[in-house]
Amino acid sequence: MERPTLLVVDDDHEFVEAARTYAGLCQFEATGAHSLSGARRALARGAYYLVLMDVALPDGSGLDLIEQFRQSGSTVAVVTGSAPAQTGTASLPATDYLLKPLSGSRLETLLTDAYERWYLRTGGGAGRPPGFIGDSPAMKWVYHQIRRVAPTDATVLIVGESGTGKEVAARAVHESSGRGGPFVAVNCGAVAHELLASHLFGHERGSFTGAVRQHKGHFEQAEGGTLFLDEITEMPPSLQAHLLRVLETRRITRVGGYGEVAVDVRVVAATNRDPDKAIAAGILREDLYFRLGEFCLSLPPLRERGNDVLQIAQAVLHQLNERYGESKQLDEACWHSLQNHAWPGNVRELRNLVHRAYIMSSGRKVRVICSPYQPVPAADASLVSFRVGTPLEVVEREMLLRTLEHFRGDKSRTAQALGISVKTVYNHLTRHQDAGMEQLDPA
Ligand SMILES: Nc1ncnc2c1ncn2[C@@H]1O[C@H](COP(=O)(O)OP(=O)(O)OP(=O)(O)O)[C@@H](O)[C@H]1O
Ligand SMILES: [Mg+2]
Repeated sequence: MERPTLLVVDDDHEFVEAARTYAGLCQFEATGAHSLSGARRALARGAYYLVLMDVALPDGSGLDLIEQFRQSGSTVAVVTGSAPAQTGTASLPATDYLLKPLSGSRLETLLTDAYERWYLRTGGGAGRPPGFIGDSPAMKWVYHQIRRVAPTDATVLIVGESGTGKEVAARAVHESSGRGGPFVAVNCGAVAHELLASHLFGHERGSFTGAVRQHKGHFEQAEGGTLFLDEITEMPPSLQAHLLRVLETRRITRVGGYGEVAVDVRVVAATNRDPDKAIAAGILREDLYFRLGEFCLSLPPLRERGNDVLQIAQAVLHQLNERYGESKQLDEACWHSLQNHAWPGNVRELRNLVHRAYIMSSGRKVRVICSPYQPVPAADASLVSFRVGTPLEVVEREMLLRTLEHFRGDKSRTAQALGISVKTVYNHLTRHQDAGMEQLDPA
């Protein structure tokens, strides 16, 4: 992954090492030099985005090299023990001055600002975190935040509408964190309230009926890694209070147990609700929210990502082509409607629509149709629900396509599951393709 480069020139070896460590945390690739000649050699080896230059070096003045560095494209910050007017650097207008002794926070501000400028200038040249497609500015900002927070041990709360990629973001945080342990995902809404505590913290043998042996919970399973608590507002408030304590102490107690177990787990939580409203409704404890929201990552809805819609559609099509060994293309005629659809189900809705259109298209062109009768997005891919008043034909088509999707295009298994003949499946597909879809498309 491409990163901005930094050269630290100072005869104080300790300072050079400290600055390089800071720079590493701020995503720079940092090199050090301890003399003017060392700096010259470094310059001959390559260009640097940012140079921290000491003035008084054992073999001359750092000021002598500033112009050369600037000509090579570097931004130069002068590190000096005395005020600019006394060192003669005041006449170099674009140069930043750092007075020694240099505080960590001053250095950090300088590096963060420089990183920000570099990131904007390279247009996200640092690449996207794993799993993401799209280069809209809104998403670039998301990538930037993921990159910054991933290597820290901060708890992260990811908020965003359904299908915006919260789980993708949680995995990306884990994968970019350098944590060697596993990524364990728990959907707090999918486990019965009374069982959630034992799922999370484990239980001792005999702690309740059916607890025939000791069981390690998700916290212990995620040791050394990341625990993703999805749909955090579905966790009962009493358990939220308990979770808060665990986050504070980094220790858990198994259900029915007495001793505490230390855990090294990074927690990432997510919700598709507005946290303020969830607090007002009493389903999210405010104290837990403050603890989880140590770092809050907000994922923008797809309708705010401009060209990402087409980029994702093309990428999904490409994946499908690879999977099915075909070379289909997105029909340009549907670009406009793709970009103007509101995408209530966000990226998940887009992916499903493209997949469906892919299955339906017999030629090389895939025409994605955004119908107002879309099924209501559901987190569980095996569920399909419709608004009252949806035409039966749409329901029928949807059920057929979703079942086909489920059986990966196997028409015999689809026919069997739906209780119709394979011939009927073919007939329906042809009918929908020839007429039905176009008629139901409002555009
Ligand atoms: N930027 C993206 N690029 C490509 N695929 C994406 C992107 N964002 C999300 N997806 C895909 O969209 C689908 C939904 O993503 P994900 O499950 O992470 O959403 P979510 O926000 O957790 O949704 P929910 O709130 O319903 O749980 C997944 O198939 C995921 O791989
Ligand atoms: Mg999710």
